[in-house]
Amino acid sequence: MVVGIITGTGVMSVFGDSVNVAGYARSSDGADGDEGHFLECARERVLETPFGVVRLFEGLIGGRGVVVVPRHGPGHNVPPHRVPYRALVWVLRKVGVTRAFGVSAVGAVNGAMKPGDLVVADQLVDFTKCRGYTFYEGSPVVHVDMTYPYCPQMRSALIEAASGISLRDRRIYVRGSYFATEGPRYETRDEIRVFRLLGADMVGMTGSPEAVLCREAGICYSLLAVVTNPAAGLSGALLDHKDVTRRVHGASSVIKELLREAVSRVPAGDDSCVCPAPLYRRTFDEYILNSEC
Ligand code: HPA
Repeated sequence: MVVGIITGTGVMSVFGDSVNVAGYARSSDGADGDEGHFLECARERVLETPFGVVRLFEGLIGGRGVVVVPRHGPGHNVPPHRVPYRALVWVLRKVGVTRAFGVSAVGAVNGAMKPGDLVVADQLVDFTKCRGYTFYEGSPVVHVDMTYPYCPQMRSALIEAASGISLRDRRIYVRGSYFATEGPRYETRDEIRVFRLLGADMVGMTGSPEAVLCREAGICYSLLAVVTNPAAGLSGALLDHKDVTRRVHGASSVIKELLREAVSRVPAGDDSCVCPAPLYRRTFDEYILNSEC
């Protein structure tokens, strides 16, 4: 079994450096200084999919196969609404991934969550508007269950990993409702007020359709959210993407350590999960992954 990691804003420059792939500059603006390699024996590959070309990094963590795909492209030049989510998930399955973690920057709607904190999401509310939401555009018609959008075993791997490392001065929340917005703009003050009334803990631009597509592809998936800012209107400041990336870089060594620990806690079996993802894998493989058309 191979573990996938889908990385987001600010994270890939750090991973890129640590997998030692040419073409990446190490960030110099606040990373908290872990020079270790994230992946052992890493190599870069470019694969074509029916949904576009994907660049990925394959390697090992503690002897276990791991594949890292940067959501926004290696140079962070793909905005959240143009991310080829289907290509990323398709490619993960193609290289044998059955379990995956996503890492995403979020704005905090819940006032207890502070920049630098981490959240293991447990719910998802989708306010995105125009993305590729499904692999199943025709026959067969497939309706996946999304009652609980994140795999409990993959959530536990993150939560247990966090208790095994030093988080420095940050907290980890083991629950949180992720509200996905279309972007690339940030939200208005009143959108955040509405989201708060609806029960949002955090807001981000990439959580959907990633979780849905992983489920369709039969991949057990959980999301590690990195709080980068109070959401719009919740502090005196306006939002600036530079602050978001700076926050993620600042958390980079903790994120890497946590993910390495989490990978080692991922259950070995592919099918022994209480989440419904494995139920959908065979249909995906037959009709989407290995389909001739
Ligand atoms: N809104 C949406 N996406 C985000 C934010 C935010 O405030 N911060 C980081 N990603």
